[in-house]
Amino acid sequence: MVRHFLDLSDAGTDAVAAMIGDAIDRKAARTSWPKGRPDADKPLDGHVLAMIFEKSSTRTRVSFDIAMRQLGGSAFILDSASSQLGRGETVADTARVLSRMADAIMIRTDDHAKIEELARYASVPVINGLTDASHPCQIVADLLTMIEHRKALPGLEIAWLGDGNNVLNSVLEAAGLFQFNVRVATPPGYEPARQWVEHARKGGAQIELTNSAEQAAQGADVIITDTWVSMGQDGEQERKRVMQPYRVDDALMAQAKPDALFLHCLPAHVGDEVTESVFEGPQSVVFDEAENRIHAQKSVLLWCFDKL
Ligand code: CP
Ligand code: NVA
Repeated sequence: MVRHFLDLSDAGTDAVAAMIGDAIDRKAARTSWPKGRPDADKPLDGHVLAMIFEKSSTRTRVSFDIAMRQLGGSAFILDSASSQLGRGETVADTARVLSRMADAIMIRTDDHAKIEELARYASVPVINGLTDASHPCQIVADLLTMIEHRKALPGLEIAWLGDGNNVLNSVLEAAGLFQFNVRVATPPGYEPARQWVEHARKGGAQIELTNSAEQAAQGADVIITDTWVSMGQDGEQERKRVMQPYRVDDALMAQAKPDALFLHCLPAHVGDEVTESVFEGPQSVVFDEAENRIHAQKSVLLWCFDKL
C-alpha cells in the first residue's frame, strides 16, 4: 500500500514520534557538514521527488529539495504557471503521469480535495506541502523544535494567537496525537473549523477556544502565531483590524511561563502578528524551526518510503 502523507493522522502517533527521533539522529550525524552532502547511508539513493507549487514558497521548496539531496536523491519543481496543470490538465492525469516519472509527489495547493484526488490517482506517495486546510510537514518541524528545546509534548500548554488557519489545524491534529493542550485565541468568527477541534479532543487533548489573548497566553509553555492573512485569503484590511489584540508582544509573552518559546512557521509580518522585540528576542526559536523543516521533511520522506 502506498504511504501518502496528507495529514499527520495518515502516519499516526508512533510514526510521527519515529520521524522526530530519526530527524534528531540524522541532524546530529551531519553537524557542520556542507548542506548538500548526502547522509552516509543515502537511503533514497536515485529517488526523484516531483514538487508541484500552486502557491508561493521559500521554506517548503528549499527544505524538500535539500532533504532529497541529503537522502541521496533529487527533486524538481513544477509550478502551475509553466506546467500543463495551469492550462487545465486534470489532477488525475497529472498524478498518473508523475507516478511514471518520479518516485514521490509533494504538492502545495489551495483546495484540500485536490490533494486527495491526486493521492487517489497516484501510485507513488503524495505529500501535503500545505493546503487551505492543513500544513502537516510544518508541524513535524515544530514538534521537533519544541523537543529540541526540552519541551516534552504530553501535557504541554500551547497558546495559539491570531487566525484559526491551516497551520493551527495541524497543531490541533498533533495535540490529539500527543496529548498536549492548546488554548486558541482568535477574534470572533476566525475560530478553527470544528472538525479539527473535535478530533483533537477525541484524541485526549484539552482544547480551549477564547477571544482573549491574555487568557490563552497565561502560563503557556509555547506561544505560536502565524500571518493574519494566509495565501489566497480575502479581506486583508478587516483581518488586520480585528486581529490587533492578538499581536504577540512582550506583555503577552510575560503572561506565559518564563522559559516559554515563541514559534512562527514564517514568513512573518513583524509589526502585525508579532512585535520585533519578541521575534528577535531570546525566547524566539523561529530560525531553528525553519532549519528543522529540512530534518523533518527527510523523515516524512523516509516514512513515505517505509525506510524509517
Ligand atoms: N512555513 C512555510 O511553509 O514557509 P514557505 O511558505 O516559505 O514554504
Ligand atoms: N497560513 C499561512 C502559512 C504559510 C506557510 C498560509 O497559508 O499562507
